[in-house]
Amino acid sequence: MAFPTETVYGLGANGMDGEAVKKIYTAKGRPSDNPLILHIANEGSLEQLALHIPVQARILMDTFWPGPLTLVFQKQRGVPEQVTGGLDTVAVRMPSHPIAQALIAASHVPVAAPSANRSGRPSPTLAQHVIRDLEGRVEMIIDGGPAEVGIESTVVDLSTGEPVLLRPGGISIEELQETLGMTVSMDAGVASRIDESAEEYKPRSPGMKYRHYSPEAELLIIEGESEQVRVQLIELIHMSGKKLGLLATREMVESLASELAPVSVKVLGKRADINEMAASLFRLLREFDEEDVELILAEGLPLHGLGLAVMNRLRKAAGYQIIQV
Ligand code: TXA
Ligand code: MG
Repeated sequence: MAFPTETVYGLGANGMDGEAVKKIYTAKGRPSDNPLILHIANEGSLEQLALHIPVQARILMDTFWPGPLTLVFQKQRGVPEQVTGGLDTVAVRMPSHPIAQALIAASHVPVAAPSANRSGRPSPTLAQHVIRDLEGRVEMIIDGGPAEVGIESTVVDLSTGEPVLLRPGGISIEELQETLGMTVSMDAGVASRIDESAEEYKPRSPGMKYRHYSPEAELLIIEGESEQVRVQLIELIHMSGKKLGLLATREMVESLASELAPVSVKVLGKRADINEMAASLFRLLREFDEEDVELILAEGLPLHGLGLAVMNRLRKAAGYQIIQV
């Protein structure tokens, strides 16, 4: 069944039952080697899942649970391999959404739940998105209104001793570092996509291999200093023969006003309000699909705070098609 969480909607099944978990992969069309997060309603449930709970995990749990933080531990033997994709680690999160909490508590088991989208699509932040992707494939959807955070949980690996950021999300790396009083390193996979000196950061042609969170339209991100981004956007708007969409901050949209007549414009949020931008990102990407837009131009955002997670999703959605100005 699909249910709301504070991050995005999840598609849940009994996390201790391998056969139930398999049905999640089928409904989503998800590759079976991509492991799932187990959702719990109280810290006591962690003992049966994690072999060892390091002190740093305790600190993070005390500070951020319930909330948008997933921790990866060495797994206990009882955790089905369908959940972990055959890994010897397990990802666990305690969501704060009252409906998610009530559902998990009532089910008396850890609930395995990926985002409730078809594999490759933007994660659902409204029940309507789940219906669009999974109608006929799931028995029930609980509609809890719009997801508050709008972007998935932050995933931190604590299974090796040192905390490593595997996926930026609803809790920023700055908050993690401040809480732990130490540097949290980024997994090579994350860093290579967000480090400005890395290969993958440079403009490249979109490869299916890298497309996730994707709208149907092609997506191109313009990153750089605002005024230069503005100039580049104007050029692209005038040059392109395609049906265009623009995904940008309120400030950018206002500064472009007179150039925008034929363009479908979606405002991510005010530049100062990254929470608003995170909350609207996936919904707006899906809205472009309803309008048969062919090419979406997106304004790049600074990488601090939740900006790191927003840009991580946007870059994946773009298949790393980026123009750096
Ligand atoms: O906010 C969220 O985390 C949402 C809501 C529904 O809770 N769930 C979600 O699940 O985003 P999903 O399956 O879409 O993403 C789970 C991420 C994947 O990137 C997966 O590879 C990673 O967590 N993951 C799960 N188990 C792992 C493990 N044992 N080791 C490393 N990464 C793991
Ligand atoms: Mg997902």
